[in-house]
Amino acid sequence: MQPFRAPERHLMGPGPAPVAPSVLAASAQPTIGHLDPVFIALMDEVQQQLRQVLGTQNPYTVPISAPATAAMEACLANVLEEGDSVLVCVNGVFGTRLAEMARRCRAQVRELAFDWGRAVEPEAVRAALAEQPAKLVCWVQAETSTGVLSDSQALAAICREVGALSLVDCVTAIAGVPIRIDEWGLDMVYAGTQKCLSAPPGLAPISIGPRALEALAARERAPQSWFMDFNLLGGYWAGEGKRAYHHTAPVNAVYGLHEALRLLLEEGLEASWERHAANARRLWAGLEALGIRLAVPEAERLPPLTLLEIPEGIDDAAFRKYLLETHGLEIGAGLGQFAGRCWRIGLMGHGSNEVAIGRCLRALADGLTHFGHRADAAPALDAAGVAA
Ligand SMILES: Cc1ncc(COP(=O)(O)O)c(C=O)c1O
Repeated sequence: MQPFRAPERHLMGPGPAPVAPSVLAASAQPTIGHLDPVFIALMDEVQQQLRQVLGTQNPYTVPISAPATAAMEACLANVLEEGDSVLVCVNGVFGTRLAEMARRCRAQVRELAFDWGRAVEPEAVRAALAEQPAKLVCWVQAETSTGVLSDSQALAAICREVGALSLVDCVTAIAGVPIRIDEWGLDMVYAGTQKCLSAPPGLAPISIGPRALEALAARERAPQSWFMDFNLLGGYWAGEGKRAYHHTAPVNAVYGLHEALRLLLEEGLEASWERHAANARRLWAGLEALGIRLAVPEAERLPPLTLLEIPEGIDDAAFRKYLLETHGLEIGAGLGQFAGRCWRIGLMGHGSNEVAIGRCLRALADGLTHFGHRADAAPALDAAGVAA
């Protein structure tokens, strides 16, 4: 058996996104003990970095040793008890997943449905809560399945008005668009490392605010999951100098996350948000010059992830296979209602740059020509402001 060698790929799908070389190098350092004082100091620093990136002073801000789906489930399993009422805003795959998980917590789940490809409407949430209160309201700030950005600030304000807790999916939002936990009053947030943070998948930052911690303390029974019990996990990550063994943290992944957060803070959070927005605008202009229609209204578009309509007569899977084999370029398929109708192009983290925009527009123009459409890269590159 030969050692595995990863092929060279240009990742421009919904994630994972390209990982910065220094993040890979940081992760390749020797593994040290997870209770080594040097590692404990690193854990403290990662928590500080995450607080800065998420705009919060919440002491309970930690990376969970698991993918973001596990963080999503952990938040629900900790805050919900049997019979609790939850309002889940559903405008794509991840809202649907939140609702399904909340049902498995035996909560009373109401789904508030929005058209896929459109944002969650704050006024509809206000009306739903006026009709029937809820302990918890959940939404996805950056719906990766549809390339839509929802207004967490407005939604959080409504939750505060009616005394409901908020749980926000920030997996694709983190580092790509503003998140201000304390200023907006978000109660529970989970995120991922493999999108705009440009770290490998496998860790999931979470931040739990004081009102949510009160709700956890008031539970009648401990959560069913031992591993995900935030009280126990807090003793490991947020143990204020005396950490108790809970599980063995993925030491090398934490090295990588630290470096990814260091790079982000060195660039500056606002600079990172602005870079994602500016590069997305360039990509959108280039795609439109290629004659491709964008599926989400501009005001609701998510800069790190663009949903585009597949031109008439193109075979979705064959086209994406061609891009991968001929250009080493990965773009994402549509999900759910958009399967076979749309593609998803990511400009996330380290991968949100001019070279990636140019590569993508050239590859799409070549692919369209290969599949019998007329497409010229030059005007698209010009519209995107990329050197030909
Ligand atoms: C918005 C959103 N939520 C949750 C997830 C789940 O993350 P993971 O695949 O790391 O479990 C994803 C992954 O794409 C996502 O985009």
